Amino acid sequence: MTQRRRVLDLLRTINMASCQCPAHSHRGNIQVTNATPLKDYAFEIKCSTVRYGLGVTKEVGLDLLNLGAKNVCVMTDPNVVSLSPMKAVLDSLTSKGINYKVYDKVRVEPTDSSFKDAIKFAKEGNFDSFVAIGGGSVMDTCKAANLYSCDPDADFLDYVNQPIGKGKDVTVQLKPLIAIPTTSGTGSETTGMSIFDYEEIQAKTGIANAALRPILALIDPLHTLTVPKNVAIFSGFDIFCHALESFTAIPYSERGPAPANPALRPVYQGSNPISDVWARFCLQTLNKYFFRSISNADDIEARSSMHLAATMAGVGIGNAGVHLCHGLAYPIAGNVKQFVPDDYGKDPIIPHGLAVVVTAPAVFRFTAASDPDKHLEAAELLGADVTGVKQADAGKVLADVILRYMERLGIVNGLFELGYKATDIPKLVEGALPQHRLLKLTPVPQSGEDLSKLLEDSLTVY
Ligand SMILES: NC(=O)c1ccc[n+]([C@@H]2O[C@H](COP(=O)([O-])OP(=O)(O)OC[C@H]3O[C@@H](n4cnc5c(N)ncnc54)[C@H](O)[C@@H]3O)[C@@H](O)[C@H]2O)c1
Ligand SMILES: [Fe+2]
Repeated sequence: MTQRRRVLDLLRTINMASCQCPAHSHRGNIQVTNATPLKDYAFEIKCSTVRYGLGVTKEVGLDLLNLGAKNVCVMTDPNVVSLSPMKAVLDSLTSKGINYKVYDKVRVEPTDSSFKDAIKFAKEGNFDSFVAIGGGSVMDTCKAANLYSCDPDADFLDYVNQPIGKGKDVTVQLKPLIAIPTTSGTGSETTGMSIFDYEEIQAKTGIANAALRPILALIDPLHTLTVPKNVAIFSGFDIFCHALESFTAIPYSERGPAPANPALRPVYQGSNPISDVWARFCLQTLNKYFFRSISNADDIEARSSMHLAATMAGVGIGNAGVHLCHGLAYPIAGNVKQFVPDDYGKDPIIPHGLAVVVTAPAVFRFTAASDPDKHLEAAELLGADVTGVKQADAGKVLADVILRYMERLGIVNGLFELGYKATDIPKLVEGALPQHRLLKLTPVPQSGEDLSKLLEDSLTVY
């Protein structure tokens, strides 16, 4: 022990005495103290309990009884409220005599105002538990309603990610939340993230804290049978980008300093060997089932596999994180002009999965140099033949296979067809720059000009 201390003292002396000019300083390479290292050396995997099975929603009543729930808030959106997934939940609650109230006003692609409306409902109801039945919009709204009803005096921006909000840590105890996804996409049922459109800046941001994670995710493929074609396509591309971005994100050991306290390790840690397993599974599943799940909505094997893949990708992103496609998607969705896709109501909207995939070919051409082998592996898992491909062509090969999926599934020809022109690019870059959490997970450094170029390259994609 004494000897070790002597060696450390010596190293520390050398370190202090060494040249500190920018050209010659190597101070950062010698980690001689027990203080926070400059790069993290650890990662951890957190996830909600996941229960998967056809018809598993019928168990939710018993789960709530097991929790001792007496006053449950059931959240959904104005469309799902009248569909079979909601009926399955309410039948289960009624059969177990559980008292509940329904909030069915969740906005699809929620905003800060729609969050606040749901929060008000949750505060007034004094609930002891929550059930979210719907897509990412419902699950994210329910997480926020749970959080702010458990900390009623908090200001809305207290918990919102920096630099837009204060990024306050969650120290209050949240109520149990059971999430039942009805789309196959976001993976929100396993993550500690809640995303909304902050109207003031016309870009998405969110709250990211492990405390928001549902205690239980019921993954019931029966719910996917009512999902309309465009919702299935766009949410499928959300899975697609979750898998690709978490797989290619900066490695956890390169992200930055280890936190001073393990409780402060961020939700988005960078790619790691465990989240890579989920990502590989998803890419293989997409290769096998994405087209099938769209061409035949009754193909229960394909739809069930996509539903499981969404949850798997959620575990991947919920720990590794996503990067540029998502960072750029937030202002793309937030600045929507007149685009009104089928199956999403009458208001202009750029659904999340569409906003995310539209820049994917440009993004992966850009990031491939960081790890050509991994980009080639992703292309191969998605079905590309990579035999004899040079490392220098990894970005092109991955972009080409992404374009093949996009074209075959009828994705519009770039930002231009979503209503954007070259003159809109500065505004989109302005909305992407505050997405620090995502930009810093990108495996290559990027400037504002790089973001502009990626958006320019995405104006038309085919
Ligand atoms: N928290 C996270 O980890 C995370 C990750 C990715 C995306 N998101 C967010 O999730 C939101 C998108 O969620 P989404 O793609 O799941 O869609 P969604 O919840 O916005 O729903 C899309 C449409 O599909 C309908 N729908 C949902 N389930 C249906 C069913 N079974 N049958 C028929 N119609 C159905 C809805 O009523 C709605 O009209 C975005 O706000 C996005 O930013 C969150
Ligand atoms: Fe996403």
